[in-house]
Amino acid sequence: MSIEKNNETINGNFKGKNILSLNQFTPQDIGIVFQEAPRMRAAVENRQQLIDLKGQVVTLLFYEPSSRTYGSFTSAIQRLDGGIIPVHNPETTTSIAKGETLEDTIKTFECWSDGIVIRSRMPGDAVRAADAALYIPVFNAGDGIGEHPTQSLYDLYTLQEQFNRLNHLTGVIVGDLLNGRTIHSLVKGLSLYRGNTVYSLAPERLRLPQNEITELTQRGMKFIEIDTVNDIPAQADFWYWTRVQKERFSSSEEYEQVKYQFVLTPKLVQAYGNKHMIIMHPLPRAGEIELGVDTDPRSVYLRRQMRNGLYIRMALLSLVMGK
Ligand code: NCD
Repeated sequence: MSIEKNNETINGNFKGKNILSLNQFTPQDIGIVFQEAPRMRAAVENRQQLIDLKGQVVTLLFYEPSSRTYGSFTSAIQRLDGGIIPVHNPETTTSIAKGETLEDTIKTFECWSDGIVIRSRMPGDAVRAADAALYIPVFNAGDGIGEHPTQSLYDLYTLQEQFNRLNHLTGVIVGDLLNGRTIHSLVKGLSLYRGNTVYSLAPERLRLPQNEITELTQRGMKFIEIDTVNDIPAQADFWYWTRVQKERFSSSEEYEQVKYQFVLTPKLVQAYGNKHMIIMHPLPRAGEIELGVDTDPRSVYLRRQMRNGLYIRMALLSLVMGK
């Protein structure tokens, strides 16, 4: 399989396809995922066991730490009646410790399972995994500073739920826009729709790379870099705060210098927020959102946004692997 094949567009048909990047999706494809979500939500709320993955087993291969992605994928698979092979820290717990390659590891777990969910350290590792897996789909659960497509699908779903549209939205993205993979996928997703405007606020060295900005603007998105919280637009529909990604820094001094450059406080929301917006964050947070913001009814990060992760991952698994 070539990289192109693995990055193949969904084009209305999810069956057996790898889910690696937001680049594979059109708005119609995203709509198909969203259409499945209410069925998943209803099943979860009614404690009803679905059987979309009955008789199938999924390997969860997580090279990097995870709470939400790991937990919600596991829950999603089990709620669809699939089984799991949970593999945490494969570098110490599998034959990778003996020198086995990513490709051989993937081919190995392909023998025992019907799908692989991989969180890896390097951008492009999910594509390598998809290349190595000849017969089963691979889901990218975050590849280093690359992408995090399933996260963005539920971020977009949360926006759709709130505003009943994904076009003509204005968002503010804040924090580590260089290393945050959820950001790379989110802006790609937003750029698929017309009339969206994104304001970005980041420490100088953590801005979104220029080539990405060019790509977004070529697709018609308005991308505006701002330097201080004073420039946050009054009419924003959402704020999407992110953590400075400590693990991507080579020195802790460098991290310390920028980690709290932009902290979300109740005061800030009061000063620059508006009534209709929502406040999002992929989590985990590491001090960049004060606890006082949690109880603001506009904050969705600890509630709706995370919960939607389960429904959207169930929907995707069902579309890709279900009968
Ligand atoms: C994010 C990730 O792993 O990229 N977490 C998540 O999956 N919700 C965000 C982060 O780690 O900052």
